Amino acid sequence: MAPLNRAAVTAVDSTGQVADILSLPDHLLDALWRVEAASLQPATTPGGLVIAGMGGSGVGGELARAALWPWLERPLELARGAELPAWTGPETLVLCSSYSGNTEETLAAYDAAGAAGAPRVVSASGGELPARARRDKVPVIPLPGGFQPRAAVGYSFVVALEVAAVAGAAPSLRADVEDAAPLARDLAAEWGPEGGEDSDAKRLARALHETIPVISGPGIGAAAAYRWKCQFNENAKIPAFAAELPEAGHNEIVGWESAASFAPFSAVFLEDPDAGDRMAARVGLTAEIVGGQAHTVERVAPRGETRLQRLVSHVLLGDLVSLYAAVLRGADPIGIEPIDRLKAGLAAR
Ligand code: PA5
Repeated sequence: MAPLNRAAVTAVDSTGQVADILSLPDHLLDALWRVEAASLQPATTPGGLVIAGMGGSGVGGELARAALWPWLERPLELARGAELPAWTGPETLVLCSSYSGNTEETLAAYDAAGAAGAPRVVSASGGELPARARRDKVPVIPLPGGFQPRAAVGYSFVVALEVAAVAGAAPSLRADVEDAAPLARDLAAEWGPEGGEDSDAKRLARALHETIPVISGPGIGAAAAYRWKCQFNENAKIPAFAAELPEAGHNEIVGWESAASFAPFSAVFLEDPDAGDRMAARVGLTAEIVGGQAHTVERVAPRGETRLQRLVSHVLLGDLVSLYAAVLRGADPIGIEPIDRLKAGLAAR
């Protein structure tokens, strides 16, 4: 198969999306600084935190919830749409996260939180959301411009983590973020275009080429699986699906019985060493059971010692695998024309 070196990537990746992916370690640290600079006051919100955001801006909340899961002291709910949970009120902090600041659902969630009397925090690079926040004297965490929303995942992730601490929903993982950045830097060098042709990222992209990835995992692996799915969709422009273990072992595993007769599906398992030996056995058995119907089976162990490092490792690997998948298909990773068309169609109504 074709090489996945710098020249091959540049030939397809017309706007240098790979550089933004490889900058993840810097984004993580810059995001910490931006939250600090926003001088958020600790919120008295025993109702916890709702994180409202869509797509590339919403996934940071999903990752933060997975990272914080063992230490959550208050509810942390995700709102992937215009509506907030009915219990949202003055005792719930609502983080509205939209990279463009113009996403219809997130703007509606912002207004709904205001109507419910909930304290709010906004995170955006510009647009209508921070304009409304300034009008309402709501604190804004400003994000740098110039990225695709999904490339700003380091920002949406760390902002969600730190706002969860502000809400008293979980302890701050600031030190863990600082520890994850150097690991991410090493992994970016190892898995990036200048890394070996047999690196995990390039090998996985080749193994999954011309298949429909079905990615799953337990714990942090489930949240990362959702990120991988979205990145395969948007960067490589292919269908991909995500599932969560152990739940998929109670339903989806049966669907695999006929998978090969429909399409070449690949089964990718993102492991979480914190999930324990029994879960590892479950992943192994699941891989064995679906293996006969899968074009490819891959088990991916994260790097790192801490939960946060491992999650960052899974995210960075998936971002690069999806980027290389785009290169192998000759699809420029930048374009998201169907999303733009949907947004424009709705705006016209
Ligand atoms: O990756 C993308 O571009 C999308 O998933 C967007 O993140 C999504 O449409 C929401 O837009 P925004 O992130 O600007 O709120």
